[in-house]
Amino acid sequence: MKFWSRRLVFEVAGMTVAGFALAGQAMAQEKPKTAGETFKNVTTSTLKGLTVDEFMGSMGVMAAALGWDCADCHNGAGTDKVVWEADTPRKVMARKMTEMVAVINKTNFGGAPLVSCWTCHHGRDFPATTIALDTLYGPPNDERDDIVPKDPQPQVTAEQVLDKYTQALGGAQKLAGLTSFIATGTQEGYVDVKGGGQFQIFAKAPDQRTVQIRFPDAPDRGDQTRSYDGHTGIGWVTTPRALLGEYQVTGSELDGLKLDAELSFPGQIKQVLTNLRIGYNESIDGKEVLVVQGTGPRGLLATLFFDKQSGLLVRLLRYSRTPIGRVPTQVDYSDYRDVNGIKFPFKYKFSWLDGRDSFTINDVKTNVPIEESRFGKPSLGK
Ligand code: HEC
Ligand code: HEC
Repeated sequence: MKFWSRRLVFEVAGMTVAGFALAGQAMAQEKPKTAGETFKNVTTSTLKGLTVDEFMGSMGVMAAALGWDCADCHNGAGTDKVVWEADTPRKVMARKMTEMVAVINKTNFGGAPLVSCWTCHHGRDFPATTIALDTLYGPPNDERDDIVPKDPQPQVTAEQVLDKYTQALGGAQKLAGLTSFIATGTQEGYVDVKGGGQFQIFAKAPDQRTVQIRFPDAPDRGDQTRSYDGHTGIGWVTTPRALLGEYQVTGSELDGLKLDAELSFPGQIKQVLTNLRIGYNESIDGKEVLVVQGTGPRGLLATLFFDKQSGLLVRLLRYSRTPIGRVPTQVDYSDYRDVNGIKFPFKYKFSWLDGRDSFTINDVKTNVPIEESRFGKPSLGK
């Protein structure tokens, strides 16, 4: 089934279960509630201890791996008839598979998450058993490893790639002088919203960042927000029409929000990413790219792709974890333009299992004051 249709169901379904939004929230000081405590019928030993946002990530992993909608396992998802906790034969099967994946990884790979739903399913409900001969004699498999294999004889070091990036953006000194910025522009999402979205990015060095999307011609939608405040270490996501509504991000997705905030100030990239390694060159949209992988906050895996010629970052791929597979988030950057001596990507595309948004910036103001409340809980911070 098509990606777009899956995401649509996810969204519309959420309107009917606002109750979860409250249950999913955690106050700053409280230990976040587990999925097993929040939901009515989450029983696998593998998933019940997850935070709510990690649990929803694992739902995304299942749907993506099988090429299914939420409605394929949850009868009526996308309508007001859905009873999420009700068991269906497919849900029961998925539970069995979930425990199986945990056992496979534990008994064979020391608990490392090497086998996921995708490993067998590859977008099909029944995994294929036999290779098609056309595939055997067709083009080679171009799927990528999450962990980038090290190029044993690299032409450049990872440090050199990051230095060239710093230089291409305007130089270390210019970047060190960047203390904040506000970028505004237009957004296009996976769902056609009348009039489209208007967004603002608020960023303050070294690690505060909020992206807020408004829909002026569709005021009933509410704002869509992702925020991270490095002072408190707390992140929030607001997706008003989705299952969880507004929730505090507590799982490994929090590390991703932190990384996005830190990399908004690329002068600190070498402090932010450790354990740097360089992989084999690849190509994106016909252009040769240098691939650098590093470890971000709390072990977060991040892969960066730099245009070999210009030195600029064209893609960031990062992964948060669930016990049944990683949840990828990809940001593609383009149209770099100069703002007071520093290059900013004026276009970027944000893709994750939950949808895809394109952003076109039309204005960036650097070193402007931003109220602290911008980075706190979105519904309080306006
Ligand atoms: C392949 C089948 C499958 C798909 C697709 C799927 N789920 Fe689930 N879902 C499950 C299973 C299995 C559980 C119970 C997990 C457990 O017991 O640990 C569950 C539980 C849930 C629950 C908890 C309900 C409760 O109160 O007990 C919610 C909410 C949920 N899923 C939402 C979603 C959403 C939203 C999507 C689409 C993004 C989705 N699911 C896609 C299999 C699926
Ligand atoms: C080791 C390979 C393997 C892995 C890993 C795996 N599956 Fe499966 N899955 C299968 C096979 C084989 C079948 C078909 C079983 C059958 O026909 O009895 C299947 C069937 C299913 C079905 C039933 C499909 C249908 O149309 O009724 C669901 C649902 C499912 N898997 C979910 C998952 C989920 C969710 C995960 C990850 C937590 C997962 N599987 C991981 C091998 C795997």
